[in-house]
Amino acid sequence: MTGNTPYSEGTSVSERIDLAALPHDFLWGTATSAYQIEGAVAEDGRAPSIWDTFSHTPGKIAGDDNGDVACDHYRRRREDIALMRRLGLNAYRLSVAWPRVVPGGTGPVNPKGLAFYDELVDDLLAAGITPSVTLYHWDLPQALQDRGGWPERDTALAFADYASAVAARLGDRVTLWTTLNEPSCSAWIGHYEGTMAPGWTDLTAAVRASCHLLLGHGLATEAVRAAAPGARIGIVNNLSTVHPATDRPEDVAAAHRHDGHVNRWWLDPVHGRGFPADMTETYGVELPLKPGDLETIAAPLDWLGLNYYFPAHITDDPDGPAPYARSVRRAGVPRTGMDWEIDPSGIETLLLRLTEEYGARTLYVTENGSAFPDVLRPDGTVDDPERGDYLEAHLAACASAARRGAPLAGYFAWSLLDNFEWAYGYDKRFGLVHVDYATQRRTIKNSGHRYAEIVRAHGRLRSDAA
Ligand code: IFM
Repeated sequence: MTGNTPYSEGTSVSERIDLAALPHDFLWGTATSAYQIEGAVAEDGRAPSIWDTFSHTPGKIAGDDNGDVACDHYRRRREDIALMRRLGLNAYRLSVAWPRVVPGGTGPVNPKGLAFYDELVDDLLAAGITPSVTLYHWDLPQALQDRGGWPERDTALAFADYASAVAARLGDRVTLWTTLNEPSCSAWIGHYEGTMAPGWTDLTAAVRASCHLLLGHGLATEAVRAAAPGARIGIVNNLSTVHPATDRPEDVAAAHRHDGHVNRWWLDPVHGRGFPADMTETYGVELPLKPGDLETIAAPLDWLGLNYYFPAHITDDPDGPAPYARSVRRAGVPRTGMDWEIDPSGIETLLLRLTEEYGARTLYVTENGSAFPDVLRPDGTVDDPERGDYLEAHLAACASAARRGAPLAGYFAWSLLDNFEWAYGYDKRFGLVHVDYATQRRTIKNSGHRYAEIVRAHGRLRSDAA
C-alpha cells in the first residue's frame, strides 16, 4: 500500500511521527477551494468571478485551462465525501463561492447557490466529517471587480454582507469559519505581480487591496459572530520561513523586508500591531485607512491558520520591484514538481513563531502539500512516494512543534483532489486522490493511503489511552 521509500521502510508510523503529541480531538482533513474543484460555473444562478474572466483570457493559464468543469464537484459532492470517508478523515476545509451565493457581489442572495453549501454541510455532517468553511478563496464576483474590486473600500463592506448571509444559513451547523484564504496572494500576486486574477501590476492598487482585504476580514469576523454566535473564526495565511541567502548585511536586510512582505504585513495588523512601519515606508503608498479601521482589522480571533509550502532564501535586489528582495533558487536541494524547495523544518518554525511571537492559542495547518507528476498505472494505482514522504515529513515536523508547545488542533492536507492549480492549470497535481479529467474518475493515490494509515495510527493511540 505504501511507496517503497527509504523513509517509510522498516518503521511504524508512530515511530516516524510523534502522534502522541497531537490532541485526541485532532482534526484530520483535506482542503479544497470552490473554483478549483466545483465546475458548474453557469449553473443555478452562479455569475462569473474574476477567475472566470482571468482564465478565459488567452495566455493567462498554462494550456489555456479554466475552471468551467474542474472536478465537477458541484455534481459529485457525495462521491467526494465518500472518498473522505474511505480515507478515514474527520474534517474537510471547503470554500464557498461568493458568485454562487451573491452573484452580483452585493444585492440579492441566490437561494440555489446557498442551497448547494447547505446540502454539502448536511452531507458532511451525516458522514461524521466536520466542515470548516472559508468565505473567500480568491473568486471575487466579477460585478464587484467591475466596480473597482479590492482596491475599493466598498468591496470590504460587500464582503461582510455576503459573510453574514452565509453564516446566517450555515451557522447552526458550521462552527469553524475562515474569512480569507491567503490574502497575500489576492493582493500581491493578483494586483502587483499580475499572474493571478485580476492580473494587475500596480503597487498602489495592491497595497490598497491588502488594506481592504484585511478590513473585509475584520468586518466579516464581526458579521459572522453576530449571525452565528457559536462560530470560531480565523484567518488563513500562507507564510514562509525567510533566510538571507548570505550573511551580507544587504541580504539580511532584504530578508527582513521579504519577511515583512509575506509574513508581517499579514500577521501584525490582525494582532493589533498595525501595518509594519518599515514596510509602509518601503512601499511608499498611502494606506487607505479610516479612523477605527485598525481596530476592526484586529477583531479578536479564535484561531490562526497556517498554509505552508516552502521556505524563501533571499538576496538584496535594489534595482528590482519593492520590496527589493529576490528569492534565490538554491542548487542541490529537494524540490516538488512546482520547483518549490522542500523544507519540513519550516512548518515547525512557523507554528512555533505563531505561538511565541503572536500568542496563538489555537492553530490549524490549513494547507500543506505537494505537486508531483503522477502516473495512473495500468493496474489502476498511482504510486507517489515523493508526495507520501513530503506529507509524512511535514506531519512529523507538525507533531514536533506540538510537542514543543504549539497549540496545533488540526491538519488539512492540500488537497483532497487533483484540481485547477490556478495559472498552472491542470498540469500540476496536488491531490491525495487522482482525477482523470476526461472521465472524472477518482483514484486514491498511495499518498492518500499513507495519510489514512497515519490517521488510523493516531486513532489507535486515542483508543489505547481511553
Ligand atoms: O492550490 C493552491 C491553493 O488554492 C492556495 N494555496 C496554495 C495551493 C497550491 O498552490
